[in-house]
Amino acid sequence: MIRHSRVLLALGAVATLAVPTLAPAQTQQDPGPASGPDARAERTLAQMTLDEKIAMLSGTFGSKLRKTNPAERRIGAGHVPGVPRLGIPDLYESDASLGVANGGSMRPGDVATALPSSLATAAGFDPQIAYAGGAMIGAEARAKGFNVLLAGGANLIRDPWNGRNFEYFSEDVLLTAAMAGESIRGVQSNHIVSTIKHFALNAQESGRYVLDARLSDAALRMSDLLAFQMAIERGQPGSVMCGYNKVNGDWACENRALLTDVLKRDWGFKGWVMSDWGAVHSTAKAANAGLDQQSGQELDKQPYFAAPLKAAVLGGTVPQARIDDMVRRILRTMFAHGLVDTPPPTTPQPIDYAAHALVAQHAAEAGIVLLKNQGDLLPLAKTAQRILVIGAHADIGVLSGGGSSQVQAVAGSPIRLPMPAGSPGLSFIKVTYQGSSPLAAIRANAPAATVSYIDTKDPATAAAAAKNADVVLFFAEQWRTEAVDLTSLALPDGQDALIAAVAAANPRTVVVVQSGGAVLMPWLAQVGAVVEAWYPGERGGEAIARVLFGAVDATGRLPITFPQAMTQAPRPEVPGLAQVRAAAARQAATPPVAGLTTVDISGGVEGFPVDYPEGADVGYRWYQRRGAKPLFPFGYGLSYTRFAYRQLAVTRGDALRVRFIVTNVGARAGSDVPQVYASVKDASGVPVRRLVGFERVTLAPGESKTVELTVEPRLLAHYDTPRQRWQAPRGEIAITVGPDAARSELSALTR
Ligand code: NOJ
Repeated sequence: MIRHSRVLLALGAVATLAVPTLAPAQTQQDPGPASGPDARAERTLAQMTLDEKIAMLSGTFGSKLRKTNPAERRIGAGHVPGVPRLGIPDLYESDASLGVANGGSMRPGDVATALPSSLATAAGFDPQIAYAGGAMIGAEARAKGFNVLLAGGANLIRDPWNGRNFEYFSEDVLLTAAMAGESIRGVQSNHIVSTIKHFALNAQESGRYVLDARLSDAALRMSDLLAFQMAIERGQPGSVMCGYNKVNGDWACENRALLTDVLKRDWGFKGWVMSDWGAVHSTAKAANAGLDQQSGQELDKQPYFAAPLKAAVLGGTVPQARIDDMVRRILRTMFAHGLVDTPPPTTPQPIDYAAHALVAQHAAEAGIVLLKNQGDLLPLAKTAQRILVIGAHADIGVLSGGGSSQVQAVAGSPIRLPMPAGSPGLSFIKVTYQGSSPLAAIRANAPAATVSYIDTKDPATAAAAAKNADVVLFFAEQWRTEAVDLTSLALPDGQDALIAAVAAANPRTVVVVQSGGAVLMPWLAQVGAVVEAWYPGERGGEAIARVLFGAVDATGRLPITFPQAMTQAPRPEVPGLAQVRAAAARQAATPPVAGLTTVDISGGVEGFPVDYPEGADVGYRWYQRRGAKPLFPFGYGLSYTRFAYRQLAVTRGDALRVRFIVTNVGARAGSDVPQVYASVKDASGVPVRRLVGFERVTLAPGESKTVELTVEPRLLAHYDTPRQRWQAPRGEIAITVGPDAARSELSALTR
């Protein structure tokens, strides 16, 4: 019961608060943009009363606004009052990882363009795609009146079973930083603020409110923190959202080492730290550790940053200077990003949804990964006569991930199923299909063919239908959601047996996987082709069909390793699972369903440690170190054409520079993502390859391009904790260029 309310509220539920209305953007006291955000913040701060300051330091659910204004449309995850008399607007916050979210339909009927999952965007290996997606989301948010977006999920994907992997970009520092940074930059190009989240090491959903993520300072700085650091440098987010979990013993939102020492001191972050919804546990400790704003205060045990914070200042346990620092950070960010001078219009603005749909489609197309293509089964010949499509509601739509990032797509949400039975208390999260029918798009691409569809769980029925087809397109699916981890990477509901039966009946079977991360493929050797389409967003059907028929090249590359089995991963099962399941069972009449764990929401689970012994060797680096061969390596993906690399040149002066030539040696145009890895010996002397550069290159047949990259020195370095500085590697560095993390085609040694 409590569990239910806590998550429900995280998406923005009901309460009451008097809300100041928006004031004119500039007052007499404010000298305007020319004086710069710091001076303007200082001047505003000097005029604020303590009560006005305290009011800016805690937010409530956006839905509270309806109490005072039933017509209010800016209902999102959060709201923070401004200071109308000084021209400081309220903050209207919406979730926005994959589009302007409307989880739980808090704005009934309001739709937005649904991008593919962040994993899909990252699979394009093209920062410009991430920027375009962010800019699109920001434009829609602005038109809807929001000025703060809870976007920018930059957690490294450490475990293949994490329920939220679809909301994150990758397992790699460089790729994550590039994608998160550009997406944030895109959002903020609309004079609104984006967060980057969830700071830090928020790597699993089960027990996320209570677990203690433990990792050494050096390993943290070289992995999850470096991804955040580089993404912040690139994207300049106005706000950092601290996560739910503990990090090395302290809650992330009252963790001085993270918030003050690393983020504000070492990285010089000038924005503000807001908490995740329900992530605050104290007043003085959190404030003094560096938390600047409590979000969704209804979810915490107390409104720690409201009356208790005022009492703490008056009582001397939180210095006045700290309160001023908190407010100053929020104000200077609002001035710096245009929230004061260029606020979103107060009336809804028209949105060019047709143009935005193309942004979503382009991201989906670029990120679809061709994993297997025996005998060039793909692209499909336009001459195929009998095409059979099976499964995953492909006649109606495409799958999306669940939780606070859920977008109600412009293309519609024609199917919204309850969570699988046995996931009690999360009834507001629906298994949602977005209205882009792969079947219709396939028919449009093959007008001369007979394209039929069946949806069956019976292997014999599927096999019988498959026998009569020229080609079978089997749509497989794996649903993930915030708040729940997977306990198996196998496709659920008997899909493996179904695929095996279909492939036995017709080897010209193409499996199109829609998933929020890695899946197992016991049938891989039997099928003709495999396409990983992720959660492809509201134009996913069109994107999938265009890749299948070769209207565009297959260009995606895996942003995560696909393991052969869950046991290959650093944590072969979800830590704390037993505690989480026991608590869930206590709280609900029905036990958790096999394959899913329910997350504890409200303290029914005792805290437990999660250790990350792989340290900074996340993802493919872990596999290399163990000499393990995954199902598909990081960076992997086939194309409809072929590429060759030559003439690697590496220079190492003030920076490491890499140059090589890539040529399309196939017969059709296509895109490739050559990847540059550096083998650097770690403290134990073992060399492990790290991605230090990549570029998406689009080439006509026979065309070549010289790729030139400068390597970010921190990607090569070791973090020396006692000295608190980066230590450049000594001696030789081996540079390789290849199509994925496991293969190199060019190599050079540099001193
Ligand atoms: C909890 C999620 O972890 C976070 O990503 C989201 O922004 C907030 N809830 C608000 O919905």
